[in-house]
This record gives sequence, C-alpha cells and structure tokens, in this order.
Amino acid sequence: MTKGFPEDFLWGGATAANQAEGAYLSDGKGLSTADVMTAGVHGVPREITDGVVDGKYYPSHNAVDHYHRFKEDIALFAEMGFKSYRMSIAWSRIFPNGDEKVPNEAGLKHYDEVFDTCLQYGIEPIVTLSHFETPLGLLKYGSWENREVINYYLRYCETVFNKYKGKVKYWLTFNEINVMSTKPWMAAGIDSNDEQTRMTAAFHQFLASAKAVQMAHEIDPNNKVGMMYAGHFAYSNSCDPEDVQKTADFMHKMLFYCDVQCRGYYPAYKLKEFEREGIVLPIQDGDLEELKKGKVDFLSYSYYLTHVIGKETNIDFKGLNGVKTGYKNPYLSASDWGWTIDPKGLRYSLNLLYDRYQIPLMIVENGLGAVDKVEEDGSIHDSYRIDYLRDHLTEMKKAIEIDGVPVLGYTMWGPMDIIAASTGEMKKRYGFIYVDIDDHGKGTFNRIKKDSFYWYKKVIETNGEGLD
Ligand code: BG6
Repeated sequence: MTKGFPEDFLWGGATAANQAEGAYLSDGKGLSTADVMTAGVHGVPREITDGVVDGKYYPSHNAVDHYHRFKEDIALFAEMGFKSYRMSIAWSRIFPNGDEKVPNEAGLKHYDEVFDTCLQYGIEPIVTLSHFETPLGLLKYGSWENREVINYYLRYCETVFNKYKGKVKYWLTFNEINVMSTKPWMAAGIDSNDEQTRMTAAFHQFLASAKAVQMAHEIDPNNKVGMMYAGHFAYSNSCDPEDVQKTADFMHKMLFYCDVQCRGYYPAYKLKEFEREGIVLPIQDGDLEELKKGKVDFLSYSYYLTHVIGKETNIDFKGLNGVKTGYKNPYLSASDWGWTIDPKGLRYSLNLLYDRYQIPLMIVENGLGAVDKVEEDGSIHDSYRIDYLRDHLTEMKKAIEIDGVPVLGYTMWGPMDIIAASTGEMKKRYGFIYVDIDDHGKGTFNRIKKDSFYWYKKVIETNGEGLD
C-alpha cells in the first residue's frame, strides 16, 4: 500500500497578481477589472468604480509590492522548501488593453524573471492565466459577453505559452470559473444580474479554455492544463428529501462548470434549465466539438468551507454578493469572517470530484484568513493557522492514502499576506509570512516569518509525515 504523499507531491503556495503585485501601472501595464475595485470591509462589498476615482483607495494599486519584491518572496518560499508556486500573470501587463496586436515586452520580461527565480530554486510555477483581472480595455467590447474576447484571450495565451515554453508546464485557464454565477465582475468583467448574460459569458470562457487547452498541448506536449473550481460543497440540512433535493440542485448550479470543462459537454440538467428559463447559448458551428477536444488534464480547486442547504435556500444567486445559504452547521466552527472550518469536508470533496471525473486533482487554495498580532519581539504566534492547515492536510492525506484519490499538489493560499479578494482588506491574513502594511496600504512592507513558516517547512521536509 502506498503510504502518505507521493514523492513528487507539489507542496507550495498560491497568489494572484492583483492581490500581490501592486505596481499597477508600471512598465506599461494597463488597468484591469481589479484596479477599479475599492477596499471594502467585512459585510460591505467592494465598490466598482467607473475608472480610477481620485480620493478612493484601491488596494490592488500597491498590493504587497510583490512586483518589486518577488525575489525576496520566492527566496522565502524556497527556504520553506516549496516545490511549486501558483501565481497568475496579469493579462494587462502583457496586453495592456487586452486587444493589442503586439505584446508588451516589459511585462513578458518581468514574468521571465519570476519564472527563472522559481526554477533556480527548483520551484515549479503553476500559472493562472486569468485570475479576477480581465483587462479593463476589453469592457468596450462588452467583455466576456462578446465572442471577440475569446480571440484576444487566445492571442495572450499563445504569447505566454510560446514565451515560457520549457519554463512553465502547469497552466490554469480561469481562476474559479464558477464565480461567474456569484461575482461575475471578478470572473469576467461583467456587472450584471442577468442570467442570459452570465451564461453567455461562461460559454465564451468555456470555449476559450477548451481552445487554450488544445493550443497549450500543440505548443508543448509537456504542458498540463487544468480548470479551477471555486470549491462550493454542500451538506443537506436534514434527511428530509426536499432538503436533499435542494442540496443536489445547488451542487448542480456549481458543478456544471466542472462538468463542461472535465467532460467536454453541457450536462442534461443544465440544458433543461436553459430550456425552462429561455436561455440560449450563442453556439456556432464547431463549438461543441471544440469543447469536447479541449477537456482539461486535471481539476484544481480552492477549498475553504462547506455550506448547508435546505428547502428554504435561494439558489438563484441573483445578488452579486456571493452565496448565502440561510443555514448554519452546528458541528463546525467558523473563521472571524464567518467561513466555516471543515477539514473533513476536504476529504469528502476530493472523493466527490474524483468519483465524478476520474482525473487528477490539485488543491490550489486553502487557508485561514485571520487577524495576526506582532509581539513586541517581532514574533507572530499563529497556532490557529497551524491547527487549521494541519487538520486539512491530515484529511487530504487520508483521501490519498485510504481512498486512493490522485492529488498532484497543494498550494496553500497566500503564503505571504496579500490583499483579500472578497473585502479588499489587508487584515484578513493567510500567510506564513507577515507583510507589514495595514488596510490603508500604510506600513513598511517588511516581511516577517510567523510560527507557521517553520511548521510548514517541516511539513514539506518530511513530505507530510511531520504534521503533528
Ligand atoms: C478565492 C480566490 O476565492 O478565495 C482568491 O481565488 C481569494 O483570489 C481567496 O483571495 C480567499 O478569499 P479572500 O476574500 O479571503 O481573499
């Protein structure tokens, strides 16, 4: 029997350009959808402004200055023993408005240096092509609602696949593609409640992803391309069959994104829903074949929490503000931001997805957003984070060892503190490495190792045997 984690398990951490880099206009970068989102606070959504408005604070503009400090950050990752670093390329660094014919060389050079730095330490880059940062210049076309945007995306993909051939092998086409159903501005630069609009944009992203998968394989047969699912998983509120049915309906709303990208076609339940609701997909000749040919090589997902669903749950998601299920799980505690903490659910989710798709999985986000305190001597005792991560890794290990689920890697979210995507706050910290700035972007930007830094180093050193 195979014991523990595979030898080549990709231990690491994950970030996104708009939450980490800053330097929002440096070296020719254009604005992205993230650059016009102000900071919110817990419970108050971030405001989307019409361009950059004087006097408002936009956390992506400086973020944690990873753009200038990536060498220091990656050296710290290497010190922890990272085998992989999941990060995103800001599309608007490569094509500042999204629709140029020629890429921005300065942007390409930057990521070349980032990848070289990773490789120098034996760290495998895992690259998200679009992580909540559609170039703002594409909004004049209607963003992802317009089929034309597929061509701009593919031009960008072709550029980076060729440029980083041999350096990057793992690619993710769209971060949390199912966020289209909950926060379409983040997923696609679309600020609309209209289901037809969202499903049109999702169709275009599916097609773009399927074509990108094929292109990546043609350019380099060693490329492995994954989808990325925002891990929504739900338990039924009771054994009342009505609650159970509603839970299944909820999971369909979310899993249909995985169904299309992993199986290569729209599931029957979704087509029936479209029929009932009068939603028409803008399918052209050959599109459905493209979806089939562009199935992903692996499924990656974020795992933070689980939901409880019952007959009262509204699963229409007509609001723009995420998923509200209406039920609480009495068996679980929650983070200060109300996200349930459910390590056992991670094993359950790995099994659920592997049973359904039978392709390798990767956990590309998991972690605890918490307020950290710097002690007078500069130390940070984040035992709560260690507990959270240990418990999740223990369950992931069971899924691998006991259930035989093939898991390629684990990239913990936000290895150094970065801007929170949902609220734009800085105080919602995930990192092994503290970054000294506050919610207004003020501070020294110094990096400080937390207790969890040393703990994760040991986990990697022992390939997951030193979890206790
Ligand atoms: C995922 C996103 O939804 O969750 C990340 O892919 C995000 O970009 C992460 O940061 C955690 O959410 P938050 O709001 O706590 O940063």
